[in-house]
Amino acid sequence: MADAKSNSIEVNEAQIAAHWKEEEYYYPTAKFISQANLVDTEVMKRFGLDNFPECFKEYGDLLDWYKYWHTTLDTSNPPFWKWYAGGLLNVSYNCVDRHLSNKKGKAALIFVPELEDEQHIVITYQELFVRVNETAAMLRDFGGLKKGDRVTIHMPMVPDLPVTMLACARLGVIHSVVFGGFSGAACGDRIADSGSRVLITSDGYFRNGKIQNHKEKADVAVARAKELGAQVDKVLVWRRYPGKYISETPMVKGRDFFVDDVMKDFNGKRVEPVPMLSEDPLFLMYTSGTTGKPKGIQHSSGGYLAYAAGTARNILDIHPDDVYWCMADIGWITGHSYIVYGPLALGTTSVMYEGVPTYPDAGRPWRIAERLDVNIFHTAPTSIRQLRKVGPDLPKKYNFHFKLMVTVGEPIEPDVWRWYYDEVGKREASIVDTWWQTETGGFLCSTKPALDPMKPGSAGPGVPGIHPVIYDEDAKELPPGSNKAGNICIRNPWPGIMQTIWGDPDRFVKTYYSKYCRNPKSKDWRDWPYFAGDGALFAADGYIRILGRVDDVINVAGHRLGTKELESACLTIPEVAEAAVVPVVDPVKGRVPEVYIALKPGVSADHGEVQRKVVNAIENMIGKIARPSHVWVADDMPKTRSGKIMRRVLAAVSNNMPVGDVTTLANPDIVESIKVMVQSQTKRAEVTDAPDDIKHFGKVE
Ligand code: PRX
Repeated sequence: MADAKSNSIEVNEAQIAAHWKEEEYYYPTAKFISQANLVDTEVMKRFGLDNFPECFKEYGDLLDWYKYWHTTLDTSNPPFWKWYAGGLLNVSYNCVDRHLSNKKGKAALIFVPELEDEQHIVITYQELFVRVNETAAMLRDFGGLKKGDRVTIHMPMVPDLPVTMLACARLGVIHSVVFGGFSGAACGDRIADSGSRVLITSDGYFRNGKIQNHKEKADVAVARAKELGAQVDKVLVWRRYPGKYISETPMVKGRDFFVDDVMKDFNGKRVEPVPMLSEDPLFLMYTSGTTGKPKGIQHSSGGYLAYAAGTARNILDIHPDDVYWCMADIGWITGHSYIVYGPLALGTTSVMYEGVPTYPDAGRPWRIAERLDVNIFHTAPTSIRQLRKVGPDLPKKYNFHFKLMVTVGEPIEPDVWRWYYDEVGKREASIVDTWWQTETGGFLCSTKPALDPMKPGSAGPGVPGIHPVIYDEDAKELPPGSNKAGNICIRNPWPGIMQTIWGDPDRFVKTYYSKYCRNPKSKDWRDWPYFAGDGALFAADGYIRILGRVDDVINVAGHRLGTKELESACLTIPEVAEAAVVPVVDPVKGRVPEVYIALKPGVSADHGEVQRKVVNAIENMIGKIARPSHVWVADDMPKTRSGKIMRRVLAAVSNNMPVGDVTTLANPDIVESIKVMVQSQTKRAEVTDAPDDIKHFGKVE
C-alpha cells in the first residue's frame, strides 16, 4: 500500500470540527510598506492559475543564465517536473561571482562565534569568491570530485560550511549536508545511501561554551558506511582554528586530511563555474518519513535557486543592503534556502551564528542584533519560547529594530506569537509565519508582509504561485470556512519542488502523489496534486492553519524525527522485544519523543540499565536531538486483536488525555497499569483539549 495512504488519518477523523478562537488581525506599518519589495496588489492575479506556469518566469529572471530556458515547465513525465528546461546556469556563479561588479567589498557572510569575546568574522563577496574558488580547486584536484558525484558534508555552523557547499555547486558536485548534531551513525547511513566517497567534516565547535569533539563522529560514520558496503576514500577535516587541532580523536593516516594543510597548494587558484542544466541536481537533504529509512530529497539547480531567491525577495523582503539573520542551522532546509542560497543569490548580508541562542544568557541574540544592526530576523517557535521563558524583558533593553521577523518549522501558539510581535518586534516588525518542508525547497504558505494582515497562529494563504487545497480522505475539497480539517495539498507544481527521492523514484511517486492523483497516466499537472503530509484547516478568510503531521513523524523543536527510526534504535538493544515512540507536548520544544518498551520474555534485566541503553542507542544512532523524555518499561504493549501496537493509546497516556474506548483491544487491562505507572511518576495535569496532532497521532496503525 502507498506510504501516503497507509499513514494518513481516516475520513471521519480528518473532518473533525475545529474549535479555537479566531485571532484578530495585525497590520503592517506604513514604514514597512513604503520600502517593501512586494507591494503590487495584483500579484495574486499575476500568479493565478490562468497564468501558470509562465508566472514563474519572473523568478527565473532573478538569475543569470548561460543559456536561457526554452520551456518554463516541462510536464512530459509527471510528476517529475522540469523547470526552466533547456536553461544552463551555475548556482555558485549566481550567489557569488555576479555580485563582484558592484558589491565586492560588501559583507556576504558575517560569522558570529559562540564565545562572546571572539570577534565576529566578516566575509565580503570578494573574499567569498576567493574561498569558494580555492575550495573548489581543492575538491576537484585533491578530492577527485567532478560533476554528478555526491559528497557528504557533516559540519557545524562555521563559514567553511557555506563555502564548501558553494564550491560543490561550482563544480556541479551534489552536496548532501547532514545536520552537525546528528550522530556519526546517522551520517554513515546517509553517506551510504548517497554513495559519497568523500566526507567533509570539522574538528570541533562550541556549544554552551564547551568544545564539542566533532571529528570522532567521522570515524563512526565511515565505519557505519563500510558496514553498509560503502567505501569512503577521503575525510577532509576543516579546523575551527586553522593550524590548531581542537579534537582529541586521532587522524587516520592516508584517509584523513586537514583542509588548511591541503589548501596551501591551492592558494590563488580559480575554477571556472561548470554550466549546469536547470534540472541537474544541486543537493540532497535527508529527512524523516514514514519508514525507518531517511529519504534523500533531491533538489534541482535552476528551479530550486529561482524559487529560493524569489520567495526570499517577496516574503522575507530581502534587499541587498539589509542585514539578515536566520538562526536556523545550515544542516536543515531552512539554512540551505534561507541562510545560504536565497539571501546570497540576492546579494545581501547573511549572518550565521555558531551556538545556542541562550549562551551565555538570553540577551545574546539581542546583543548580536544590536551590534550588527540586523533588520530581518528568522527563527523557530522553539527558540522564541525559550527566549521568552528565560528573558521575557530582555529585548527592550537592547537597541535593535527589526523590519521583518519570521517563524518557521512548527505551529506557533498565539500568545507566543504576541510576545514575539510586542517584545522582539517592538510592534514595528511584520511577522511572516512560513509553512513549508524539506521537500518543497521554499515557502508554500505565508502572508505577503506588506500586503496581508497577520493572524497569530495562522500561516496565511498560499504564497504567489502556490495554490493550496484541503482534501478529505475521498478527495473532496474542504473549502475555506468549512471548519473541517483535512490533508493539505498543493494543486500545482512550482520551481522549488523536490525532483525525486535519491535512488527511489517509486517511493517519491507513492509518498507524495499516489494518494490524490486523479489519473496516473495523465500528462496534465492538474491531475497531480502534491500531498504534503500535514493536517490543516482553511479559515473563511483563506488563511491556513497547520495542525501537524498526519504520519509517523514527530516535530521536535522544529526538527522532523521519524518514530520508526527511533523504534529501530530501541530494538537494537538485545533485551527489548517491542518499542513504540509517541510525541508528548513540551512547553518549549513543542513536542518531545517518549518511548515505551516491552522486554523479551524471561529477561529480568535491571530496568534502569535497559532504559539507559535505550537512550544511548537513540543518541548514538540518531543524535541528542532525539533524546526521549522518558523510557517506560511496560509488561506488554496495548494491541489490537491482530497484534498491532496502539500508539494512539500510548500517546493519550503520555499526554494524560482520555484514552477513549479500549475494550476492543486484545489486552485492555494493560492500558490501566501503564496509566498508573506513567501518572505516578510524571504527575502530568489532565489535558482535555489536546493539540490535533496528538489527538490524531497513530490513528492508522
Ligand atoms: O509539519 C510541518 C512543520 O514542519 C514540517 C516540515 O519539516 P521540515 O521538512 O523539517 O522543514 C522544516 C522547515 C521548513 C511540516 O510538514 N512546519 C513547518 N513550518 C511550519 C510547520 N508547522 C506549522 N507552521 C509552520 N510555519
